[in-house]
Amino acid sequence: MPNLLCIGHRGACGHEPENTLNSFNLAVAMGSPWIELDVYSVEGELLVIHDDSLERTTNGVGEVMASSLEYLRSLDAGGGQQIPSLREVTELVDQRCSINVELKGPDTALPVSRFLAGLCDEGWDSHAFLLSSFDHAELAKADPRFRRGALFNRASPDYFTRTADLHAYSINLSSRLVSRELIDEAHSNGLKVYVYTVNEADEIRQMDMLGVDGVFSDFPDRVLSIFGNS
Ligand code: G3P
Ligand code: MG
Repeated sequence: MPNLLCIGHRGACGHEPENTLNSFNLAVAMGSPWIELDVYSVEGELLVIHDDSLERTTNGVGEVMASSLEYLRSLDAGGGQQIPSLREVTELVDQRCSINVELKGPDTALPVSRFLAGLCDEGWDSHAFLLSSFDHAELAKADPRFRRGALFNRASPDYFTRTADLHAYSINLSSRLVSRELIDEAHSNGLKVYVYTVNEADEIRQMDMLGVDGVFSDFPDRVLSIFGNS
């Protein structure tokens, strides 16, 4: 049975506060071969946080892009931890797993590409990264040396025009969109199929039976207990 790739969603955010160093550390400790995180660029620093606004995941108020870097770094993102920088995450990971960087904030493709290119100069494999975004125009600006995942959260009449335009490596789908036909068509187009967010054991198994290549899970331990490391 081919392994279903395990991608720790925002780390292991079913167990630890999402997009924190503790969450990524736990995902790595569990043996997850991939983690996923969400990135904004603020005052030249790449910060790892999911929402446009601060209230849900931190003790701050307001919008990420309207906040100063100093303010953002003063906040508690869970368990007394700061909002991490992408550099802090890559230093923590230290090539022990691969990283899907989701471009969430505006104007992130170029600074993320530059940062990751620097890591490649330090010895990281460029294929240890997957850049993804719902904002396909932003993703198209990323350095083509890095694999691209075209994210979709709603059905699209032109999935495969978009993935072709992006020279995408994968199509990253909401679980709501998954069907065997779509998966087969993606594979015919040479794409990997990664699905978010898949947390329950029966759904994890169902995704595998449908031919999905990998799942984003808040509980990477659950995926790994079924399929082991990919
Ligand atoms: O990249 C998969 C998934 O993270 C996309 O949705 O909202 O969790 O960032 P979201
Ligand atoms: Mg994400």
